[in-house]
Amino acid sequence: MTTHPSTHPSKIAILPGDGIGPEIMAQAVRVLEALGESFEMERADVGGAGYAAHGHPLPESTLKLAKEADAVLFGAVGDYQYDTLERALRPEQAILGLRKELGLFANLRPAILYPELAGASTLKPEVVSGLDILIIRELTGDIYFGKPRGVRECPDGPFKGQREGFDTMRYAEGEIRRIAHVAFQAAQKRDKRVTSVDKANVLETFQFWRDIVTDVHKEYQDVELEHMYVDNAAMQLVRAPKKFDVIVTGNMFGDILSDAAAMLTGSIGMLPSASLDANNKGLYEPSHGSAPDIAGKGIANPLATILSAAMMLRFSLNKPEQAERVEAAVKRVLQQGLRTADIFEDGTQRVSTEQMGDAVVRALG
Ligand code: IPM
Ligand code: MG
Repeated sequence: MTTHPSTHPSKIAILPGDGIGPEIMAQAVRVLEALGESFEMERADVGGAGYAAHGHPLPESTLKLAKEADAVLFGAVGDYQYDTLERALRPEQAILGLRKELGLFANLRPAILYPELAGASTLKPEVVSGLDILIIRELTGDIYFGKPRGVRECPDGPFKGQREGFDTMRYAEGEIRRIAHVAFQAAQKRDKRVTSVDKANVLETFQFWRDIVTDVHKEYQDVELEHMYVDNAAMQLVRAPKKFDVIVTGNMFGDILSDAAAMLTGSIGMLPSASLDANNKGLYEPSHGSAPDIAGKGIANPLATILSAAMMLRFSLNKPEQAERVEAAVKRVLQQGLRTADIFEDGTQRVSTEQMGDAVVRALG
C-alpha cells in the first residue's frame, strides 16, 4: 500500500484525452471536488490531444506528471483524424506507454449488472441478473509487448522468402506469479473462486502460465481454482456468466474477454477499470472508448469515469469511505430513473452528460 504524508494533499493527474474524454472527465472532476477533500488535480494532454499539442500521444510532460502523481484519472483516447498516423504516433500508444512506463501490470475490470439496468443487456434477464464478475487482466506482458516483433523475410515453411508479420508471446515466471497473487487476493475478498483462462492445449506460454498459477494457488487454499481454455471461457461468458467470480488471464485474452464481459451488462458506459502497479499506484479509466461519433454532443455517459474515480479513491488514495459515497450516489441517481442516452429505456428520464454529473453531485448528500 502506498502511504501518503498526511500534510500533502493527494496529487491526481487528470488526462482527459480525446473524443468524449473531456466531457466525461469534467463530470468526474466535479464529483471529486464535491467530496470536500483537498486534492491537487493537474491536467495534461494525452492521445490525439497530446499529438496535436506536443507532437506525441504521450508527451514528456504528461508522462512526468503521471509519474509524480499519486494516481492517474484517464478519459479515453483515439479519433478518426489520427487513424492514418504511423503506429508509434497513434493515440493508443499513450495508454500502452503509460502502462509500461508506470509498471501497471494488474488491470481490474469489474462487470456488474445494476438491477435498475437489467433490461439493457442483450442477454435474457435470468442469465445476467445479479452478475458481478471481476476480470483481472495482466497488462504489461504477453504478445502486446513481447519482442522480437515486426515484418521480416519469412525464414522457413511453404512461404519462405515472402514478407511476414510476426509478434512474440512470452510470459516470465515472476510476471505470472504477481498477477496470480493479485487474483487470489481479490478472490479472498469476494466469492473465493478464481478461473484462470489460458490456451494450454496449444501454446507453450500458456501451459507455463497454467503450471505457475497452479503453484501460486498452493498459498491460497481457501480459494477454489479452475483452469479454462479461452475459447470455452468466451462461450461460458455468454452462456452462464454468473458462474464466474474472478477471472485471471493474460493481456491478449483479457482484452477480448473483458469487452465481452462488459457487453453482458448492456452498459459499457457504466464500467470502470483500474490498472495497478506493485504498490497500488494506479491509472483509472472507463472501460469504454473515446466514441468520437458522439463527442461534443453532451450525451455521453459520465458514470464509468465517475466510478473509476471511486476505484481510485479506494485503491490508490486510501479513502474507501469516499469511494463508497460516490458509488452510493451513482446507485441513487439510477434509482431516481435518470439515464443518459446509452442506457435510456421507456419510463426513465433522459439526461445529458452534465445533468448526470449534477445529479451525482447532489446525491453525494
Ligand atoms: C483496452 C484497449 C487497449 C488495449 C487499446 C486501446 C490499446 O482495447 O484497454 O482494452 O488493447 O489494451
Ligand atoms: Mg480492449
